[in-house]
Amino acid sequence: MSSFLRAENLGKVYPLPKGELQVFRGLDFELEAGDIVAVMGMSGVGKTTFLNLLGALDRPSEGTVYLEGEDLFSRDADSLARIRNRKIGFVFQFFHLLPEFTALENLSLPLMIGGLERKKALGKGAGILEEVGLADKADCRPAQLSGGEQQRIAVARALVNDPRLLLADEPTGNLDWKTGEHMLDLLLDLHRKRGLSSVVVTHNDKVAGFCRKRYIMERGELKRMD
Ligand SMILES: Nc1ncnc2c1ncn2[C@@H]1O[C@H](COP(=O)(O)OP(=O)(O)O)[C@@H](O)[C@H]1O
Ligand SMILES: [Mg+2]
Repeated sequence: MSSFLRAENLGKVYPLPKGELQVFRGLDFELEAGDIVAVMGMSGVGKTTFLNLLGALDRPSEGTVYLEGEDLFSRDADSLARIRNRKIGFVFQFFHLLPEFTALENLSLPLMIGGLERKKALGKGAGILEEVGLADKADCRPAQLSGGEQQRIAVARALVNDPRLLLADEPTGNLDWKTGEHMLDLLLDLHRKRGLSSVVVTHNDKVAGFCRKRYIMERGELKRMD
């Protein structure tokens, strides 16, 4: 049986002004449907690079990624963008909300990008806003929200299209301890309730603790920790 998400022989090289930077190569990874795994490792080892490749935000220099058995990188840019929009939810360390839009507009954007008319998108978005406990903040702009609230909106945005895959890059990295705890509870709750398959990059031992498998990235390799 093929896994839900599989990376094969993945390599990434960044061109630099003086030569090239090989972040990793020959990297293999599998995520079973419904599983949640943590990826840990020091800053600069390539965790974000890896996550970006898993979610097809960037193309690998070698190797490929299969999502539900399908080779993502055999697709052209437009069709890859559609897959990302429908099947993959991203949560970033720095939230990446658009400052000129309200909370509700921000999280409803993926629906509009996917072709849903604005009114319907905002209607569905309002439902998710409630799910993340921020129904009363619908009309606030990001600057009027706390870090924790902004990240909740970002989680809502990641899930508004009902993706199957959730990729979270240090989702608690910019939150204080207490707010981070709440964010974790929310992520775990949504992972279970929505039957997601999730990869969480984290420095937080508690996050890693609730994941079913832990990996550490070191010197260009991804190793199981247990
Ligand atoms: N777009 C890029 N261009 C060039 N180098 C990059 C780029 N993105 C990341 N890097 C470099 O690749 C390495 C891995 O970065 P990253 O994946 O962000 O690591 P981590 O998320 O583990 O901190 C670092 O040395 C970083 O400087
Ligand atoms: Mg990173």
